[in-house]
Amino acid sequence: MNVSIGFIQPKVRFGNIDYNIERIESLLNSLGSFDLIVMPELVYTGYIFRDRREAIRIAERYGGKIISHIEKISDKYSSAVVAGAPELDDGRIYNSAYIAYKGVVLDTYRKLHLFYREKEWFDPGDKPLKVYDLNGFRLGVMICFDWRFPEVARILSLKGADVIAHPSNLVYDYAYTVALARAVENNVYVITSNRVGTDNRAGMRIRFKGMSQIVSPNMEILYRARKYREDAKTVEVDISIARDKMATKLNHLFKDRRVEFFSPLVETVYVEE
Ligand code: ACM
Repeated sequence: MNVSIGFIQPKVRFGNIDYNIERIESLLNSLGSFDLIVMPELVYTGYIFRDRREAIRIAERYGGKIISHIEKISDKYSSAVVAGAPELDDGRIYNSAYIAYKGVVLDTYRKLHLFYREKEWFDPGDKPLKVYDLNGFRLGVMICFDWRFPEVARILSLKGADVIAHPSNLVYDYAYTVALARAVENNVYVITSNRVGTDNRAGMRIRFKGMSQIVSPNMEILYRARKYREDAKTVEVDISIARDKMATKLNHLFKDRRVEFFSPLVETVYVEE
């Protein structure tokens, strides 16, 4: 069961939606056909907002255009697309990833773990983690800082994900290595799509590194993108590898879990000091 999965790593300019669309299209044009493409977190808008009002204003102004574009791409390539963008809903604003398939937005994933000043700009995600059964593979989505919370990838995997799409604007380098752990502990493919370019505003400056990567269930880095430069890549992967959860002939990754000892994971108490 082979599918072609990958990412684009565009240079993003804050607030310049037309420029960002042009870079997305140019990188997609450099690829052949694919079944899934993952784009970075907030790829259409940029990352550092001045405040929540600015995030809402940009989402109000460009939300329709962004959704149409995501649908257009998934239609043109007859594929699944995961792309980060702000999402307005009933006075709330989320750092979301749109999940589109063959011309239609199926759903959004709303980032559960907001990073640093995102807490000033966005509302925390309020929807359960979900897996999408597409043609030949099952897709789960998490966004950037969710990498720091292993429960997210675990739950997506327990719900059947073969591939975890991970749109990112990475700040900490640990994430590149942690993605390998998320892949092997859950026996899934993990695609981290990280942007390049610099956001320098509101007293913050972040130069995003790129180095997007596709990791196999066996922890192989099937491809790692260039640092600080645009890139795009798809690889052909065998989904049956992700479906086989036997770690040895006698060990099943999910059945062997000693869940009777795991209850602290779903409690809010912890030892503070
Ligand atoms: C991040 O979650 N964008 C660091």
